[in-house]
Amino acid sequence: MRIDIVTIFPAFFDVLDVSLIGKARERGTLDLRVHDLRDAAHDRHHTVDDTPYGGGAGMVMKPEPWGETLDGILGEDAVLIVPSPAGERFTQAVARELADEQQLVFACGRYEGIDQRVVDHYEARGRVRLMSLGDYVLNGGEVAAMAMIEAVTRLIPGVVGNPASLVEESHEDGLLEYPIYTKPKEWRGLEVPPVLLSGHHGEIARWRREQSLERTRVRRPDLLA
Ligand code: ADE
Repeated sequence: MRIDIVTIFPAFFDVLDVSLIGKARERGTLDLRVHDLRDAAHDRHHTVDDTPYGGGAGMVMKPEPWGETLDGILGEDAVLIVPSPAGERFTQAVARELADEQQLVFACGRYEGIDQRVVDHYEARGRVRLMSLGDYVLNGGEVAAMAMIEAVTRLIPGVVGNPASLVEESHEDGLLEYPIYTKPKEWRGLEVPPVLLSGHHGEIARWRREQSLERTRVRRPDLLA
């Protein structure tokens, strides 16, 4: 998969050199490139923002640097992803859809956002998805893009070492994951649930299912509705 990120803060993405994503890049499973939007701002100060038409607080990102940068990056089959609190909700199901794509391009806005014509222009020419991580506001799209990139890339075959570890997780079956334990059997007076030491695989599976359902009922009843 190829992933391109456009940002005025490329340093945010330095950490993508480490961990499983870093290894996937080294192996060539993942071709990840970070682009500085200011490279396409040609005035002396590399200006990327201006005041909003119609008035109001804050600044708006100018369309021209976005157009020049995205024109040079977007391939035929690319999906342009614009992190935004005004977008559709990013979920595990969306992550699975995106993991099948050839190229994802993340356009990370700052300030009050990007001039609407950028989205309108690329929507008329290809696939664009405004994606929100949740009902809260971040300072820009960078942290949201990072979260989405991690959620998507770990689903690409070969990125996570043991594919079985992807199956039994929160949200994969629509429920929250059951609690997990390791050695020692007792820690600070707290014991591992005896069923997990019983060796009865059927009973363990049943207990885990019940725990998943109960956790989901208490913490996220919206998932059961
Ligand atoms: N940019 C700012 N807030 C955001 C959010 N909640 N999700 C995605 N992108 C954002």
